[in-house]
Amino acid sequence: MKILVLNGSPRPKGNTAGLVAGFVRGAEESGHTVTVAQVCRMHISGCLACEYCHQPGSGHERQCAQKDDMQQLYPALDEADMLVLASPIYYHGFSGQLQCALNRIYALDRPRRLRQAALILSSGDADVYEGAEYEYRRSFLEYLAWKIRASIPFAKPEM
Ligand SMILES: Cc1cc2nc3c(=O)[nH]c(=O)nc-3n(C[C@H](O)[C@H](O)[C@H](O)COP(=O)(O)O)c2cc1C
Repeated sequence: MKILVLNGSPRPKGNTAGLVAGFVRGAEESGHTVTVAQVCRMHISGCLACEYCHQPGSGHERQCAQKDDMQQLYPALDEADMLVLASPIYYHGFSGQLQCALNRIYALDRPRRLRQAALILSSGDADVYEGAEYEYRRSFLEYLAWKIRASIPFAKPEM
Protein backbone atom coordinates (compact mmCIF):
# COMPACT_ATOMS: atom_id res chain seq x y z
CA MET A 1 0.00 0.00 0.00
CA LYS A 2 1.20 3.52 -0.76
CA ILE A 3 0.91 5.79 2.26
CA LEU A 4 1.23 9.56 2.16
CA VAL A 5 1.87 11.34 5.47
CA LEU A 6 1.26 15.07 5.66
CA ASN A 7 3.32 16.29 8.62
CA GLY A 8 1.96 19.66 9.67
CA SER A 9 4.53 20.38 12.38
CA PRO A 10 7.16 23.06 11.77
CA ARG A 11 9.56 21.42 14.23
CA PRO A 12 11.78 18.82 12.49
CA LYS A 13 12.69 17.12 15.81
CA GLY A 14 9.43 17.82 17.61
CA ASN A 15 6.79 15.58 19.12
CA THR A 16 4.82 15.12 15.90
CA ALA A 17 8.01 14.22 14.03
CA GLY A 18 8.72 11.55 16.66
CA LEU A 19 5.27 10.04 16.28
CA VAL A 20 5.55 10.14 12.49
CA ALA A 21 8.94 8.40 12.63
CA GLY A 22 7.44 5.57 14.70
CA PHE A 23 4.53 5.24 12.30
CA VAL A 24 6.84 5.18 9.27
CA ARG A 25 9.07 2.55 10.84
CA GLY A 26 6.14 0.25 11.59
CA ALA A 27 4.49 0.77 8.21
CA GLU A 28 7.71 0.09 6.30
CA GLU A 29 8.42 -3.01 8.38
CA SER A 30 4.97 -4.20 7.34
CA GLY A 31 5.89 -3.78 3.67
CA HIS A 32 4.18 -0.49 2.89
CA THR A 33 5.73 2.39 0.94
CA VAL A 34 5.60 5.63 2.90
CA THR A 35 6.18 9.19 1.72
CA VAL A 36 6.31 11.97 4.30
CA ALA A 37 5.58 15.49 3.05
CA GLN A 38 6.96 18.14 5.40
CA VAL A 39 4.15 20.59 4.79
CA CYS A 40 5.72 23.38 6.84
CA ARG A 41 8.79 23.41 4.62
CA MET A 42 6.60 23.81 1.55
CA HIS A 43 4.91 26.93 0.25
CA ILE A 44 1.22 26.11 0.22
CA SER A 45 -1.30 28.94 0.27
CA GLY A 46 -4.90 28.69 1.33
CA CYS A 47 -7.72 27.91 -1.11
CA LEU A 48 -8.95 30.99 -3.00
CA ALA A 49 -12.40 29.53 -3.68
CA CYS A 50 -12.03 30.58 -7.34
CA GLU A 51 -13.61 27.29 -8.51
CA TYR A 52 -11.06 27.03 -11.38
CA CYS A 53 -10.82 23.32 -10.46
CA HIS A 54 -14.56 22.69 -10.71
CA GLN A 55 -15.52 23.96 -14.15
CA PRO A 56 -16.88 21.05 -16.23
CA GLY A 57 -15.63 21.03 -19.82
CA SER A 58 -12.93 23.63 -19.13
CA GLY A 59 -10.03 21.21 -19.60
CA HIS A 60 -8.70 22.16 -16.17
CA GLU A 61 -11.01 20.15 -13.96
CA ARG A 62 -9.18 18.85 -10.85
CA GLN A 63 -6.38 21.38 -11.40
CA CYS A 64 -5.62 24.20 -9.00
CA ALA A 65 -5.08 27.69 -10.37
CA GLN A 66 -2.39 28.33 -7.75
CA LYS A 67 1.01 27.06 -8.90
CA ASP A 68 2.71 26.62 -5.54
CA ASP A 69 4.12 23.52 -3.79
CA MET A 70 0.67 21.97 -3.56
CA GLN A 71 1.30 20.95 -7.17
CA GLN A 72 3.77 18.36 -5.79
CA LEU A 73 1.14 16.94 -3.47
CA TYR A 74 -1.69 16.55 -5.98
CA PRO A 75 -0.07 13.59 -7.83
CA ALA A 76 1.04 12.10 -4.51
CA LEU A 77 -2.54 12.32 -3.22
CA ASP A 78 -3.90 10.68 -6.38
CA GLU A 79 -1.37 7.83 -6.13
CA ALA A 80 -1.76 7.14 -2.40
CA ASP A 81 -3.98 4.40 -0.96
CA MET A 82 -3.84 5.89 2.52
CA LEU A 83 -3.47 9.41 3.87
CA VAL A 84 -2.10 10.16 7.31
CA LEU A 85 -2.71 13.58 8.80
CA ALA A 86 -0.08 14.44 11.42
CA SER A 87 -0.20 17.69 13.34
CA PRO A 88 0.46 19.47 16.58
CA ILE A 89 -2.72 20.83 18.08
CA TYR A 90 -2.81 24.61 17.60
CA TYR A 91 -5.76 26.31 19.28
CA HIS A 92 -7.68 23.02 19.27
CA GLY A 93 -7.21 22.37 15.54
CA PHE A 94 -4.58 21.46 12.96
CA SER A 95 -1.59 23.73 12.34
CA GLY A 96 -2.33 26.50 9.85
CA GLN A 97 0.12 25.11 7.32
CA LEU A 98 -1.57 21.71 7.34
CA GLN A 99 -5.01 23.32 7.23
CA CYS A 100 -4.06 25.17 4.02
CA ALA A 101 -2.95 21.90 2.39
CA LEU A 102 -6.11 20.09 3.50
CA ASN A 103 -8.37 22.82 2.14
CA ARG A 104 -6.56 22.64 -1.20
CA ILE A 105 -7.53 18.94 -1.61
CA TYR A 106 -10.85 20.51 -2.68
CA ALA A 107 -9.38 20.85 -6.18
CA LEU A 108 -9.27 17.06 -6.60
CA ASP A 109 -12.74 16.61 -5.12
CA ARG A 110 -11.84 13.02 -4.22
CA PRO A 111 -8.26 11.73 -4.64
CA ARG A 112 -8.38 8.75 -7.01
CA ARG A 113 -7.18 5.82 -4.88
CA LEU A 114 -7.45 7.00 -1.29
CA ARG A 115 -9.64 4.73 0.80
CA GLN A 116 -7.98 4.78 4.20
CA ALA A 117 -6.80 7.40 6.62
CA ALA A 118 -5.13 7.81 9.98
CA LEU A 119 -4.66 10.72 12.34
CA ILE A 120 -1.58 11.52 14.44
CA LEU A 121 -1.87 14.41 16.89
CA SER A 122 0.39 15.88 19.52
CA SER A 123 -0.54 18.52 22.09
CA GLY A 124 0.42 20.20 25.33
CA ASP A 125 -2.66 19.13 27.25
CA ALA A 126 -4.61 15.89 27.18
CA ASP A 127 -8.18 15.80 25.83
CA VAL A 128 -7.80 18.66 23.33
CA TYR A 129 -8.35 16.65 20.18
CA GLU A 130 -12.06 17.19 19.49
CA GLY A 131 -11.56 20.00 16.94
CA ALA A 132 -9.06 18.10 14.80
CA GLU A 133 -10.90 14.81 15.23
CA TYR A 134 -14.18 16.44 14.18
CA GLU A 135 -12.71 17.76 10.94
CA TYR A 136 -10.97 14.43 10.28
CA ARG A 137 -14.14 12.45 10.88
CA ARG A 138 -16.62 14.71 9.12
CA SER A 139 -14.49 15.90 6.17
CA PHE A 140 -12.26 12.93 5.51
CA LEU A 141 -13.97 9.81 6.80
CA GLU A 142 -17.60 10.76 6.09
CA TYR A 143 -17.50 13.19 3.13
CA LEU A 144 -14.66 11.45 1.35
CA ALA A 145 -15.91 8.05 2.57
CA TRP A 146 -12.60 6.65 3.68
CA LYS A 147 -12.10 3.94 6.25
CA ILE A 148 -10.40 4.78 9.51
CA ARG A 149 -7.22 2.89 10.27
CA ALA A 150 -6.10 4.53 13.47
CA SER A 151 -6.17 7.60 15.62
CA ILE A 152 -3.03 8.23 17.63
CA PRO A 153 -3.30 11.15 20.05
CA PHE A 154 -0.36 12.05 22.25
CA ALA A 155 -0.09 14.56 25.05
CA LYS A 156 3.33 15.62 26.27
CA PRO A 157 3.58 14.21 29.81
CA GLU A 158 5.68 17.10 31.16
CA MET A 159 3.04 19.77 30.47
C1 LIG B 1 0.51 28.28 18.17
C2 LIG B 1 0.37 27.13 19.13
C3 LIG B 1 -0.87 26.77 19.60
C4 LIG B 1 -1.03 25.69 20.47
N1 LIG B 1 -2.28 25.36 20.90
C5 LIG B 1 -2.44 24.31 21.74
C6 LIG B 1 -3.74 23.94 22.22
O1 LIG B 1 -4.75 24.54 21.88
N2 LIG B 1 -3.83 22.89 23.08
C7 LIG B 1 -2.73 22.18 23.49
O2 LIG B 1 -2.87 21.25 24.27
N3 LIG B 1 -1.49 22.48 23.03
C8 LIG B 1 -1.31 23.54 22.18
N4 LIG B 1 -0.06 23.86 21.72
C9 LIG B 1 1.08 22.99 22.11
C10 LIG B 1 1.46 21.99 21.01
O3 LIG B 1 0.32 21.34 20.47
C11 LIG B 1 2.40 20.92 21.58
O4 LIG B 1 3.52 21.52 22.15
C12 LIG B 1 2.81 19.92 20.51
O5 LIG B 1 3.31 18.74 21.12
C13 LIG B 1 3.87 20.50 19.56
O6 LIG B 1 4.17 19.55 18.56
P1 LIG B 1 5.57 19.62 17.76
O7 LIG B 1 6.65 19.25 18.74
O8 LIG B 1 5.43 18.65 16.66
O9 LIG B 1 5.73 21.03 17.28
C14 LIG B 1 0.11 24.95 20.88
C15 LIG B 1 1.37 25.32 20.39
C16 LIG B 1 1.51 26.40 19.55
C17 LIG B 1 2.90 26.77 19.04
